[in-house]
Amino acid sequence: MKTNKPAHIAIIMDGNGRWAKKRGLPRVLGHREGMKRVIDIVRHASHADIQVLTLYAFSTENWKRPTDEVEGLMRLLLYYVETQLTELIKENVRVRIIGEQSAFSPEVKEALERSVNKTKHLNGMILQLALNYGGRDELVRAFRRLQANGSEINESAISSALDTGEVPDPDLLIRTGGEMRLSNFLLYQAAYAELYFTETYWPDFHASSLDAAIEEFSRRHRRFGDVK
Ligand code: FPP
Repeated sequence: MKTNKPAHIAIIMDGNGRWAKKRGLPRVLGHREGMKRVIDIVRHASHADIQVLTLYAFSTENWKRPTDEVEGLMRLLLYYVETQLTELIKENVRVRIIGEQSAFSPEVKEALERSVNKTKHLNGMILQLALNYGGRDELVRAFRRLQANGSEINESAISSALDTGEVPDPDLLIRTGGEMRLSNFLLYQAAYAELYFTETYWPDFHASSLDAAIEEFSRRHRRFGDVK
């Protein structure tokens, strides 16, 4: 089957630290530049009629980083919501959060809830922010939910019980920064995603870089196990 445009793009935004190091800057300035690319890429994806954009912004493992880096990332997240919510609403973008939010400070939780509540009626692109997210953790929580409800275990029940709920699986999974692994991202949902790895550090990943990934996707043949 020849496919053209991915409906759902998921991105592992890697390389912020190395981008900063190359310039002799503190890592958190790499994240700050990375946040600017988040703003650009969200706008560009929305204008390109992408239906879902999922961004891996903070993993369950990222808490192991030095306190100042974790605090810096939390500040950026708050800054992002403060400065971008109006723009997201204007762009008709609906925000969803995947990951275990109870670990965040009341201030961060409030900002995340606000961004979800103020956009929940919008019907444009869905922006899923993966925060304190880990694919294994998500699967464990989903199975516990199914067990608690006495639900049958089948593929569609598992899909629905995941944080991504009724959102369709990613078609294209991009990882920047040169590593070629999934790092616990969307383990169940990425079963048939086309994988796209680029050496480009996330702060250097511009709208044209997203276009190149979409273009590469459009040249792939997806067979979903079939022979056609
Ligand atoms: C990985 O780069 C990136 C992260 C752990 C955080 C991603 C965060 C942002 C892009 C900014 C804030 C996001 C939002 C949604 C406001 P790394 O630090 O692992 O880079 P390295 O591999 O070069 O060290």
